[in-house]
Amino acid sequence: MRSCVRSVATQSIISRRHSFQRALLEWYRIHRRELPWRTDPSLYKTVVSEFMLQQTQVKTVLPYLARWLEVFPDFKALAGATEEQVVKNWEGLGYYTRARNLHKLAKALVARPEIPRTREAWLELPGIGPYTSAAITSIAFGIPAAVVDGNVVRILTRLTADATAFRDSASASKALAPLADALLNESDPGDHNQAMMELGATVCHRQNPLCTVCPVLAFCTAAGRGDAGAYPRLAPKIIERRAVSRVWCLHEGRLLLHRTAGDSRRLANLHELPSHEHLGLADAPAAETGARLVARKKRGITRFAITESIYAWSRTELPSASLDREGLTWVSLKELADITLSGPHRRWVTELLAASSRH
Ligand code: ADE
Repeated sequence: MRSCVRSVATQSIISRRHSFQRALLEWYRIHRRELPWRTDPSLYKTVVSEFMLQQTQVKTVLPYLARWLEVFPDFKALAGATEEQVVKNWEGLGYYTRARNLHKLAKALVARPEIPRTREAWLELPGIGPYTSAAITSIAFGIPAAVVDGNVVRILTRLTADATAFRDSASASKALAPLADALLNESDPGDHNQAMMELGATVCHRQNPLCTVCPVLAFCTAAGRGDAGAYPRLAPKIIERRAVSRVWCLHEGRLLLHRTAGDSRRLANLHELPSHEHLGLADAPAAETGARLVARKKRGITRFAITESIYAWSRTELPSASLDREGLTWVSLKELADITLSGPHRRWVTELLAASSRH
């Protein structure tokens, strides 16, 4: 344990772990949501769903997963696809590195004579970290590896009323891994892990946890004190505000877009409305340019709160040198559905095209 000192609450729950595990599993077997990777499980479905579920909620993932399984039904089909096809089918889920890593993983697995079955061997594979290795090997192979995601951190800190002020969720996960291991049900680690995540998602909510219906209420020190909602104590994220100006330029049935270079970490090969920076323009257009503000959008990415101002420019108003810049591309409206736009940009483009056809 952290600093090797276990609190009384921690010692108490560890000593009662068998009753805790039983109560949790009984609840899970009755109340779990029927999800595709549970009703008809396979290693492939487990892997794809775990990649999609990192940073994304179950209800958002479901339609993507259904389509993904139709387009890429197994590791072989995924390994044989182009990166462009893979990223296109991830369009709108965000954090595209996950899609590229999943593609690399499929290629690595089909190149092997057999699928590895230990956590250590999975950790060597592309895109696999502590969370995915534990989730995949416990669910698919029954390996006793405890998962620690945000849901599990919340449950564990409440069970033990752990008031540590964690720097961020990664350091909380690391600190709580020994307790997660100590509580793991080794005879059914896959269901135990899924039950913990399910409890976090459906009962042990971040705000207003449903303690009255919680199957492990009797084990929860924080709920006993009536302050489950106070845990975990995570340092508040420092939010940075950013302002970005973007160009909306439609010319002879084609839209000006920017395609990010293939070696970029976050947005490789994704299209977006070009920023003024991409075109070498001043941040906000001067009044005499005639550019007109057509939309203002707010969004959050990691710790940034971004306000995007989209200005309509006519082709002739844009300095011609700026159109020669790297990454800029004219995409015909007919091809728009086939290219990959990042999720928010797909929505903005659809909205602005609908507005422009009304004028
Ligand atoms: N979040 C990530 N993986 C999950 C799973 N298998 N069940 C429920 N929530 C999850």
